[in-house]
Amino acid sequence: MAPTPEAVPRHIAIVMDGNGRWASKRFLPRIAGHRQGVESLRRTVTACAKRGVKVLTVFAFSSENWKRPADEVSGLMDILTLALSREVPALSREGVRLVFVGARNELSERVQKGLAEAERATANNTVLRLNVCFNYGGRWDIVQAVNAMLARGEVLTQDSLSLNLAAPFGSEPDLIIRTSGEMRLSNFLLWQAAYSELYFSELLWPDFDVVALDAALAAYASRERRFGMVGATRADSNNTAV
Ligand code: FPP
Repeated sequence: MAPTPEAVPRHIAIVMDGNGRWASKRFLPRIAGHRQGVESLRRTVTACAKRGVKVLTVFAFSSENWKRPADEVSGLMDILTLALSREVPALSREGVRLVFVGARNELSERVQKGLAEAERATANNTVLRLNVCFNYGGRWDIVQAVNAMLARGEVLTQDSLSLNLAAPFGSEPDLIIRTSGEMRLSNFLLWQAAYSELYFSELLWPDFDVVALDAALAAYASRERRFGMVGATRADSNNTAV
């Protein structure tokens, strides 16, 4: 059962892991798993919008993914551009705004053009913001923010650094989901994850469905977030919680 609207996280981030294993189990090439991963992302976007989530941030290609076999890398680039040309009109009708986060200058001109076009076409949509982290790494993000600030002679504070991160995320993720049973952040949103709730699903990403999403939302709704303060339900026992 879906949680009540007030318990729904405003911002969910997802490490969409397990596409390769999904394909291997079926004796298919890894890229077939990534294609199925796009389908899973598509239904997750719609489900999140319906449940009142305002921001969804997904890890689609990490700074380290360049080390994969060349055909898998080029396959992922093709999947991205194809998915955009196919899905942007429908996403736009659902009120989804697309924003790409990462080192774009390292991508081909064709891919860069596709990203810019999708962002332009969806810029005015307000139902759900979909941040697609592509050629992204949390360490890269922190370093590029610091370098930009140093170049402008700005003073580094937690607030000023947050504002200079690659994505003006608008908020830090309330909930980070990782699929496929792995329990790591893998260089995803290192700064922004400081107080995120973490949820790990055993399902491989292509198998992550609406039932699995609702299970993650229910788990989130049952958590007590304290942000380093004393929790409401624990204050009586004088717990100084972290
Ligand atoms: C991790 O699974 C997944 C990725 C590196 C890519 C995620 C990409 C998609 C879900 C599809 C592409 C989406 C867009 C928007 C382009 P893995 O390959 O590491 O799986 P494994 O751990 O089982 O090998």
